[in-house]
Amino acid sequence: MNLMKKMLAVPAAVLALWAVTAQATTDEAIAERLKPVGDVCIMGEECKGVETVAASAGGGARTADDIIAKHCNACHATGVLDAPKIGDTAAWKERADHQGGLDGILAKAISGINAMPPKGTCADCSDDELREAIKKMSGL
Ligand code: HEC
Repeated sequence: MNLMKKMLAVPAAVLALWAVTAQATTDEAIAERLKPVGDVCIMGEECKGVETVAASAGGGARTADDIIAKHCNACHATGVLDAPKIGDTAAWKERADHQGGLDGILAKAISGINAMPPKGTCADCSDDELREAIKKMSGL
């Protein structure tokens, strides 16, 4: 091999090595960037994050807190139109005492009483859901 050939061969090898390394780094970088969207969820297997999405999509059961926040808070948070305030157990108890207990005020909440609309505007609330909401608001 003459000197000229040697001088050309070495840089060529270095260049080839560099190209491979550069490509590897790029692939890794791409894989890393793709990762967050690249996670595959398989049906029947645990998949982090999916449950939270399903729950917030409204498929799950509502809690008393959900109902209160959506339907009862408007009046009962501040006591609009003399609505008994959330957490003011004494006010709720006085009503309950006059209406025959929790079942009594539940019945009024279902039918409506004066400025209190039937079911407190939660038309599709079950009696149990209303009872839980009342319990939570009143502390009874
Ligand atoms: C538009 C306002 C408003 C909304 C919304 C509302 N309430 Fe009321 N609520 C009232 C008012 C006003 C009273 C007091 C009525 C009265 O005695 O004159 C009351 C009273 C009540 C009472 C006591 C009834 C009694 O026998 O004294 C219960 C129980 C009750 N609300 C439950 C609820 C629940 C549960 C929700 C949500 C699902 C709700 N309310 C939403 C206004 C509201």
